[in-house]
Amino acid sequence: MKLVVLHGQQHHGSTWNTTQLLLKELVTNQDSLSEFYVNDIPYCIGCYTCILKEEENCPHRKVTKEIIHSIEQADVIIIDSPNYCMGMTGQLKTFFDHMAYRWFSHRPLGNMQHKIGIAIATTAGMGAKSATKQIKKQLFWWGIPRIFCINAVVAAANWNDVKPKTKDKLLLKTKKIAKKIKRKHGHVKRGIRQKIIFKLMGNMQRAGLGTPKDASYWKEQGWI
Ligand SMILES: Cc1cc2nc3c(=O)[nH]c(=O)nc-3n(C[C@H](O)[C@H](O)[C@H](O)COP(=O)(O)O)c2cc1C
Repeated sequence: MKLVVLHGQQHHGSTWNTTQLLLKELVTNQDSLSEFYVNDIPYCIGCYTCILKEEENCPHRKVTKEIIHSIEQADVIIIDSPNYCMGMTGQLKTFFDHMAYRWFSHRPLGNMQHKIGIAIATTAGMGAKSATKQIKKQLFWWGIPRIFCINAVVAAANWNDVKPKTKDKLLLKTKKIAKKIKRKHGHVKRGIRQKIIFKLMGNMQRAGLGTPKDASYWKEQGWI
């Protein structure tokens, strides 16, 4: 199994540690794992190069290329973020903006339909669910059919202050999810909602309502 982890923050706090709990349960010697941080990615400048012309010419491609390549190769994509003001971190959203061209409405990658996604967020009190929901939405629109969420209320500003009982609960949760991921690996497929979206987007490309770059991509894939 190939796994990629994208950390929505650079520091090793409660969120990073929660992800490590999951990795300990999930990753074996036979698996390959790549981990990335998104903090050094500049903001999307809205030049539309990726959508209208060529993603390789994005002015930030040097920084994003390896991350995107690993995501495209992986079987399991894990993305984490602390809850900041009821959502994901700004730096993670910045990464997602660089993936707009991979949405269903543009040039989705066909092999996304075989991948599993995991969204992880921790929060002091409220909002972990809002953060994982935002991450899940991005993965859904890339075409990933099965996305697990781990939302953790840690009642702390850092991992050292998280109570042992809370850590035990988190360990149980990550064990459960790891088991499910192992069971589902290689057996996921698009649900009805993604099937409908894919069909509608295909109709849109056929009718010439998308960009010429996107339409030729859909033709190349043999989808229209
Ligand atoms: C900028 C910022 C915004 C935050 N917003 C919220 C919030 O809206 N609700 C909440 O309960 N905790 C909030 N927190 C607390 C963090 O979500 C919480 O401590 C989280 O577990 C931190 O994870 P980390 O240790 O991985 O950074 C915020 C923290 C920061 C730094």
